[in-house]
Amino acid sequence: MFKKLAASAVAAVMLTTGAFAAGGAGGHVENIDFSFDGPFGSYDQNQLQRGLQIYTEICAACHGLQYVPIRTLADEGGPNLPDDQVRAYAEFYEVFDPELDDFRPATENDHFPGSNLENAPDLTMMAKARAGFHGPYGLGINQLLKGMGGPEYIAALLQGYTGEEKEEAGAVLYENTIFPGGWIAMAPPLYGEDLDFADGHANDLHHLSEDVSAFLMWTAEPKLMARKQAGFVGVVFLTILSVLLYLTNKRLWAPVKARYKK
Ligand code: HEC
Repeated sequence: MFKKLAASAVAAVMLTTGAFAAGGAGGHVENIDFSFDGPFGSYDQNQLQRGLQIYTEICAACHGLQYVPIRTLADEGGPNLPDDQVRAYAEFYEVFDPELDDFRPATENDHFPGSNLENAPDLTMMAKARAGFHGPYGLGINQLLKGMGGPEYIAALLQGYTGEEKEEAGAVLYENTIFPGGWIAMAPPLYGEDLDFADGHANDLHHLSEDVSAFLMWTAEPKLMARKQAGFVGVVFLTILSVLLYLTNKRLWAPVKARYKK
């Protein structure tokens, strides 16, 4: 019985550790070892800051992050920017203020603006909306060990362009091996070396794609670290409680057992 169980557990783990099968026209979404994967993973603050810069300089031209309050850029466990930088950052954006009936510079208490381009989706939750396949019967083993697959999908998408384009009903479509259907309305937003980082960090297409994907994982799941910590504390607590209950149980029944031993 035990052997059988163990064998099927091993088989399940083996089946679920392959690369997941998201992706469209033959493209493959490969696992990436992000710092926030795994039960003890956490965001890499520098990576989130680079991702924010990429988002701001490139993606924000079309996309929005309308559910993200700008002040959360100062959150510990997130990009962790100093308060004065967050305030300065907020002023880059203009928001419509219904009280003034006019536009004004955003403050850290406003949210990021929504999408500028009608058909560009808001990116706040995109990393969760595109989470990948987690193994047979939703065992979630991949999810536990390798993360959700959403940031992997976005990173692969940004690198999935073939260079082909076509016009359909007046709109230009770009061939992308990762996008379901194979043709996407977003022109390749990144080519590599699109911007420079203050610390001189690598800015090739591969690194830029991963950094902005990590940032989008944070926008979708800003409390990931707090959640993992709470889960860990819960597991430790339950383990100690189980041991105590076991010992209590033994002690309670000890006199009864002793009586029947004779
Ligand atoms: C020139 C405008 C433009 C820019 C700049 C742009 N996008 Fe897009 N993006 C679009 C449009 C339009 C779509 C919708 C594509 C479609 O549905 O065919 C889209 C869709 C997406 C999607 C969703 C794909 C899906 O599975 O539905 C993601 C993710 C995305 N963009 C990420 C980014 C990132 C990250 C950047 C910055 C590096 C970026 N985009 C820059 C216009 C843009």
